[in-house]
Amino acid sequence: MIFTVAIDGPAAAGKGTISKAVAAHFGFAHLDTGLLYRAVGAKVLAGADPVAAAKALDPVDLENDSLRTPQVAEAASEVAVIPDVRAALVAFQKTFARRDGGAVLDGRDIGTVICPDAEVKLFVTASAECRAERRWQELRGRGMAVELENVIADVKARDERDSSRATAPLVAAADAVVIDTSDLSIDQAVAEAVAVISDKMK
Ligand code: CDP
Ligand code: CDP
Repeated sequence: MIFTVAIDGPAAAGKGTISKAVAAHFGFAHLDTGLLYRAVGAKVLAGADPVAAAKALDPVDLENDSLRTPQVAEAASEVAVIPDVRAALVAFQKTFARRDGGAVLDGRDIGTVICPDAEVKLFVTASAECRAERRWQELRGRGMAVELENVIADVKARDERDSSRATAPLVAAADAVVIDTSDLSIDQAVAEAVAVISDKMK
């Protein structure tokens, strides 16, 4: 069975949380595509060439907790502007999206570029303040001492770069269902996503 759920949206909107829950609910595989760009960003911070790093990316490169820092997020959004970096990562994502048994992919361009034929497209969003506050709590929970003001500025700058780039900008697909999680608990957001997907499976 080929069934793709594309989940796009800005930073810390709840894409990953919803994706994991939805994948578990329906028994689908899940790919956090932000990790691909974070892994390339981390290699560039360590001195690598961005395009060479993207071409040489290995799945083991994605299994690293250090990819979750604000510095790596920033580096990820900088390499994500480079068309040849994006091109090097497309085939892996397209194959994953159309794998047998169902797939959930979350990122910025899944419903627009990676899988325009996805059976379900969700655009998960929330106010910038709400997203930054959640990311701040999350980073603090991981023991990272960061200022809320800095996280708000980082998240806004990254959204601006992601939305304004020429190649595969962050934008809701015309046929995406928008879920604003600003006033939703995790359970409520997941329930909304499950309802939309169940409806499309009928
Ligand atoms: O994947 P993305 O960057 O869009 O966001 P996430 O990592 O799923 O969520 C960012 C943070 O917000 C996590 O700590 C979630 O637990 C939290 N969250 C929340 O408080 N309420 C929601 N409705 C969704 C996520
Ligand atoms: O978790 P969060 O939403 O903060 O970020 P992420 O999903 O891990 O993505 C990190 C960065 O990678 C984003 O700011 C984008 O610049 C880039 N990205 C992208 O360009 N296309 C994707 N499909 C996924 C991420």
